[in-house]
Amino acid sequence: MAMVEWDNAYSVEIQEIDEQHKRLIDIMNELYGALASKSHRDDIGIVLDELVEYTKIHFAVEETLMRIFHYEGYDQHKQIHDNIVRRVLEYQEKFRSGDNKVGMELLMFLKDWLFDHINKIDKAYVETFIKGGAKKTWMKKFW
Ligand SMILES: [Fe+2]
Repeated sequence: MAMVEWDNAYSVEIQEIDEQHKRLIDIMNELYGALASKSHRDDIGIVLDELVEYTKIHFAVEETLMRIFHYEGYDQHKQIHDNIVRRVLEYQEKFRSGDNKVGMELLMFLKDWLFDHINKIDKAYVETFIKGGAKKTWMKKFW
């Protein structure tokens, strides 16, 4: 049961970044599945932790590329990421302290945020990356 669906309209046209966005969507759907089927709290916690960790990894990759290619919007983009991570960590903390409703709140928050962020914020760095020598076919084996 998918709550969030990937659409090619969300492609930033750099393969690895698309793959990472798809992975984020997959984990969000996994969390949704775990919540909808009322999985054991520990199992929900595992998926929630994975979502938090993968969000951090994905942001770190984007931020590294922005620095490599001297992207002028780096500071602003980094600040947006930091704010999201802060919110996500707050949700994780609430869940750990016993709030069971927080998983769905986190999902709704990320769902509203993700596509808007990809379209308005992520797509803005692509031109700089490509001009700097990034290849659309880049996958993680290239770095
Ligand atoms: Fe981003």
